[in-house]
Amino acid sequence: MTDTVQPDERGIARAVAVLRSGGLVAFPTETVYGLGADALNAEAVRKIFAAKGRPANDPLIVHVDTVDSMRNLVRSVPDVVPALASRFWPGPLTLVLPRSADVPDEVSAGLETVAIRIPSHPVARRLLAAARMPIAAPSANLFSRPSPTRPEHVLEDLDNRIDLLLDGGPTPVGVESTVLDLSGLDPTILRPGAVTLEMLRGVTPTVRLRDTRTADDEPLRSPGLLDKHYAPRAPLTLYEGHGQAVIDRIVRDRRAAAAAGKRVGIIAADDDRIDGDDVMHVGAEHDADAVAASLYAALRQLDANGVDLILARGFPAHSGLGVAIQDRLRRAAAGNIVAVAS
Ligand code: TXA
Ligand code: MG
Repeated sequence: MTDTVQPDERGIARAVAVLRSGGLVAFPTETVYGLGADALNAEAVRKIFAAKGRPANDPLIVHVDTVDSMRNLVRSVPDVVPALASRFWPGPLTLVLPRSADVPDEVSAGLETVAIRIPSHPVARRLLAAARMPIAAPSANLFSRPSPTRPEHVLEDLDNRIDLLLDGGPTPVGVESTVLDLSGLDPTILRPGAVTLEMLRGVTPTVRLRDTRTADDEPLRSPGLLDKHYAPRAPLTLYEGHGQAVIDRIVRDRRAAAAAGKRVGIIAADDDRIDGDDVMHVGAEHDADAVAASLYAALRQLDANGVDLILARGFPAHSGLGVAIQDRLRRAAAGNIVAVAS
């Protein structure tokens, strides 16, 4: 069994010892739990890929504790970085920057860039400060499962595959960090998150959101972002549209599937009038913070309930964190999207 420890002084000291000896430590960040290893130890980094069953062509994020400790990892610092760092770090923003020779190929999957972030979660900050090393950490889930937002999700996927888990309770944000690519001409959001397009525009007005649906003709800048991801085991259908029509359609499709002997899970908003054993109310329709914080736990719960399929309602996605929620639901649906006319 993987040891679970409280993130007090002793727990942090144990975690540091594991990292120094090339082992794996799962730890909370403000977004999701990370699976950490010494980023400068190629052998330790390879263990991350093995534990997750992650393909080696999907690069990792390197976590650091200060802008200064980032300098050895990058070849150059684009002009916009200081302003972004002072506004959004520590916090849920990852910057893709030109990589220095110090960063093992394993970390960046052979790309010329490296992804870096300074997390704000107090446990992550204490761990980084005590370890005094950059920590490579993807989300602490098995490849293609939803990211872990609670310590029990980490154990569900990785028990016995990792050395230590720092238990920091539920993670507050609940979806992964915004990934901003600064290696091209214009800053490009590769993955939307809690640092939103609107917030980034305030610092760098030319920033754009990469539309993943039209990304096929672009060079593959972030391999891990395109394939099916963040997905529950049960196939998920996403219903996009407005108002009661969406819920009516979900209720109808649930009835048909149940008649065919299927157990159906539902992702709904608190205000939706729909009930049943496998209905997860993940937050009020317009409360994106609440929905983000509970979405992955709800998907995992439906899997644990043993549902055969999941029907999920879409959430308002015109701005803010709603964009990230839509992105994760669309990926989980893997193209299985129903446009409901109102
Ligand atoms: O919130 C988060 O970002 C969490 C916590 C633990 O920090 N980490 C996380 O890591 O979500 P992961 O590995 O699950 O997702 C990292 C994403 C991947 O989609 C990867 O393709 C992209 O960042 N990425 C990493 N390095 C990159 C690079 N050099 N260029 C482009 N994309 C990169
Ligand atoms: Mg991940």
